[in-house]
Amino acid sequence: MKIKILTLFPDMFTGFIDESIIKRAIEKGVVEVSLIDIRQYSQDKHKHVDDTPCGGGAGMVMAVDVVDRCIKANTNEHSHIVMMTPQGETYNQKKALELSKLDELVLLCGHYEGFDERIRSYVDEEVSIGDFVLTGGEIAAMVISDSVIRLLDHAIRKESHMEDSFSIGLLEYPQYTRPIEYDGMRVPDVLLSGNHKNIETFRKKESLRRTYKKRPDLLNKYKLNKEEEKLLKEIIEEEKV
Ligand code: ADE
Repeated sequence: MKIKILTLFPDMFTGFIDESIIKRAIEKGVVEVSLIDIRQYSQDKHKHVDDTPCGGGAGMVMAVDVVDRCIKANTNEHSHIVMMTPQGETYNQKKALELSKLDELVLLCGHYEGFDERIRSYVDEEVSIGDFVLTGGEIAAMVISDSVIRLLDHAIRKESHMEDSFSIGLLEYPQYTRPIEYDGMRVPDVLLSGNHKNIETFRKKESLRRTYKKRPDLLNKYKLNKEEEKLLKEIIEEEKV
């Protein structure tokens, strides 16, 4: 997969692409990440990329001509162009999975007060990473790239994301590692028992319990099987006391 990030601040991505899982995914050829400096596409001698808002008001607005030239020079008919904006559809794991199937994902980052409205006609969709306003789209683009890259084949072991929170519609079960006892807290005995059937049931139940306690809204959308229905009844009783 190719990810192209169109930004005025390519240096912001240095740590992101040079560390850990993302770095390894790039080295293994799982993904190719290109950082494209929008400023290169400015044609005035001061390399302006923004201007004051028509009609007056505070701040600066990113110019349509510069962004359009940048998009045209770096995309083709296979590109899927996503604009980072707090006005977009709220990002989630389902969208991450959808974007991970693309051949070429282009993330357009804004800065300053916003984009010239006409830029919206050059993108395929608008995405927000939550109901808050960032100083620019760069952090949002890292959030999206990170969540997409880890879903690509060979980026991480498949089982690692098959059981992610949200990927099956429930929060992930609790995990432990050594030491077995720490500061009076013990790893649950069942996880040390070697009994795979019991471990599986424990994990399913704790996954349901977490979702019930922390994100009951997710349970409303989740289709419980017979075993899960029974476990959830037990949880509701246990949580009453
Ligand atoms: N740019 C500024 N705020 C943003 C947000 N919440 N999501 C995506 N892009 C943004």
